[in-house]
Amino acid sequence: NLPHSVRLVEVGPRDGLQNEKQPISVADKVRLVDDLSTAGLRYIEVGSFVSPKWVPQMAGSAEVFSDIQRRPGITYAALTPNLKGFEAALEAKVEEVAVFAAASEAFSQKNINCSIADSLQRFVPLLEAAKAAKVRVRGYVSCVLGCPYDGDVAPQQVAAVARELHAMGCYEVSLGDTIGTGTAGKTRVLLDVVSRDVPRERLAGHFHDTYGQALANIYASLLEGISVFDSSVAGLGGCPYAKGATGNVASEDVLYLLQGLGIDTGVDMDGLIAAGQRICQVLGKANGSRVARARLSH
Ligand code: HMG
Ligand code: MG
Repeated sequence: NLPHSVRLVEVGPRDGLQNEKQPISVADKVRLVDDLSTAGLRYIEVGSFVSPKWVPQMAGSAEVFSDIQRRPGITYAALTPNLKGFEAALEAKVEEVAVFAAASEAFSQKNINCSIADSLQRFVPLLEAAKAAKVRVRGYVSCVLGCPYDGDVAPQQVAAVARELHAMGCYEVSLGDTIGTGTAGKTRVLLDVVSRDVPRERLAGHFHDTYGQALANIYASLLEGISVFDSSVAGLGGCPYAKGATGNVASEDVLYLLQGLGIDTGVDMDGLIAAGQRICQVLGKANGSRVARARLSH
């Protein structure tokens, strides 16, 4: 009983690029987003409205939002850690935002400089403002299958944070394996526990591929009834506050998996590969998608 269709949340322009040290021009970021909409992605996380001292690469997000070609039926979203970020996002005409909490205390401190409880408190006025502005809010939980500082994270801890985000009005909660240490077995246990508090159709999977387990974890999640997955074109990325973390699972590789299962996404493989290849050339990086590398070599 696999889903008939899956919604892919493309996080390459945000999660993919946020960790890059070299400057990337607004024009190159805009081109990436436009290439991704051309490829048929229906949900693109374009940038974030966070402190530029914390994540310098995302400083130009407002300009990126003003220059992209917005197409009907596509959601262009941004991360917002607090009310200040939300207000900046509104000004940039962002249609949907995401708040981000962690399942581990140490990661919460390193990433957003406050405790888990304080972060949830901080999101309440943001969600109220978003409701008033008719902006939908997605929630993230980081470190759901391990923390770079605290090690193992209990599924019950993840469930508690996910439940809070859902209760305060996040329409969907994306569970992030920030450091990619999860396995298919642990993923199934996690989803079994979290889905007692948040319905499966309100959960998404966000897998980084550091240990090469992301596709297995996605398959495990599909078997658990999850049908929304975050991925990053060309496997771009990492997290500035999770040393050694690689990118999200490559969107091309997820698409290949889903096509093989006969699951519809509306995304065109050739367009996606072209988008990934172009940004890799800009970055002077090898393409992190195995599917893209295979297709481009013959
Ligand atoms: P802080 O230093 O505690 O905040 O940072 P503050 O309220 O004390 O403000 C300090 C300064 O930041 C002030 O400026 C504020 O105006 C400014 P100053 O007076 O020093 O010039 N400031 C802002 N500027 C722009 N936009 C804002 C904003 N807020 C305050 N929204 C803060 C707290 C949350 C701001 C900071 O820690 C931060 O920006 N963190 C973001 C970290 C981040 O973006 N991490 C990566 C994204 S999360 C991720 O990748 C995980 C995910 O992919 C899922 C997964 O894989 O697990 C989602
Ligand atoms: Mg991430």
